[in-house]
Amino acid sequence: MSKDILKIAVVGGGGHVGLPLSLMLVESGFEVVIIDTDAAKIEKLKQGHFPFLEDGGPELLKKLKDNPRLKYSTTPGPISECHAIILTVGTPVDEHLNPRLSSVYAVIDQVRPFLRNGQVMILRSTLFPGTSEKIHQRLVSWGLEVGVSFCPERIAQGKALEEFRKLPQIISGSDARALETARRIFSSFAVEVTELNMTEAELAKLFTNTWRYLKFAVANQFYMVAESKGLDFYKIREAMTRLYPRAQDFPGAGFAAGPCLFKDAMQLEAFHRQNFTLGHAAMLINETLPEFLVEQAKREHRLNGLRVGILGMAFKADNDDNRESLAYKLRKLLVYENATVLCTDPFIQEAGFLPMEQVLESAQLLFIGCPHSAYRSIDWRGRTVVDCWGLTRQKK
Ligand SMILES: NC(=O)c1ccc[n+]([C@@H]2O[C@H](COP(=O)([O-])OP(=O)(O)OC[C@H]3O[C@@H](n4cnc5c(N)ncnc54)[C@H](O)[C@@H]3O)[C@@H](O)[C@H]2O)c1
Repeated sequence: MSKDILKIAVVGGGGHVGLPLSLMLVESGFEVVIIDTDAAKIEKLKQGHFPFLEDGGPELLKKLKDNPRLKYSTTPGPISECHAIILTVGTPVDEHLNPRLSSVYAVIDQVRPFLRNGQVMILRSTLFPGTSEKIHQRLVSWGLEVGVSFCPERIAQGKALEEFRKLPQIISGSDARALETARRIFSSFAVEVTELNMTEAELAKLFTNTWRYLKFAVANQFYMVAESKGLDFYKIREAMTRLYPRAQDFPGAGFAAGPCLFKDAMQLEAFHRQNFTLGHAAMLINETLPEFLVEQAKREHRLNGLRVGILGMAFKADNDDNRESLAYKLRKLLVYENATVLCTDPFIQEAGFLPMEQVLESAQLLFIGCPHSAYRSIDWRGRTVVDCWGLTRQKK
């Protein structure tokens, strides 16, 4: 490979995965063009506004904003000038909980006219196992000598810039050149790179997320077992984990939500021909936690006509992302019970949301929908709170 500066196009480069990665690559000395069809987002980026919450993101964007090695485009044209193309677009599941591969193939079709022999396409989006190989076959069938590499993103949302330097990167490639390009790119910032073949790498990513999803399901199931018998889950958990090394990774209960864990567990289920009973059980537990909380509340409160507040609507603490947040499912269930639901979130501006103080003042019953740190300083005395996260019992 040439010793010149590598030019990289990041398709979906304005997104939660694409943007931190693009900036990291500029920091690492590469020339990067962020390609994103969301023109409003690109405009914001050009003006130096980081479009979502990401630790260190605004500062890094400010630093790199005028760097000549960082460019933007709303169309795929600049791809033809690049050595590598990194795809970071969303990969949802469909209404049957099967991977919606059409969205990835649509992007491949869009970039096709700008692909050139000798380039490498690095797939960073989470993919159904076997997809990278199929994409490679498609490129070959078009007569293109474009290598394919699958290198999964494994950061925790909001912590990418910190984790890039701490986590090993899994790399793979359809041939030695693709693998070498991936190695050159990711070893520029990662502590180490680990090599797998493309399908193994795809599966490693699904295993990573599903493992987390299963752990949360265990905690949520134990929470339901204890609380449905009138026992204090967190008191038991504290005793169980205290100075006991083999239980240190036992998580607290809470909504296992967001754009990744659920859908990746479902992708794994689809991969195993719908015979992934453990994943299916985890889905049933995690997705029904809001129902469990509402049923528990109904034991002691008549929800009909009650003013119920939900504190926190994002899918994870101290983040502004509400994609697939189960707090919205909780709201729906409470509305169904004819409660008057008052929602608040310090990071999300949405029609009908109220300031926290107003919700605290008028709600007769509170639910913690998302355990934002700001709620830790609330004086909970005299308030009735349904809190599966254990936030209200934590010391300040
Ligand atoms: N969010 C995470 O923390 C995280 C972590 C690991 C892996 N992933 C995976 O990464 C992928 C992307 O997730 P995300 O959260 O960054 O999604 P996102 O929605 O935040 O970002 C996707 C971006 O792609 C852009 N886009 C869509 N179609 C496009 C097109 N045709 N051309 C150019 N740009 C286009 C969108 O405008 C958006 O900015 C998914 O496969 C997801 O499972 C996400």
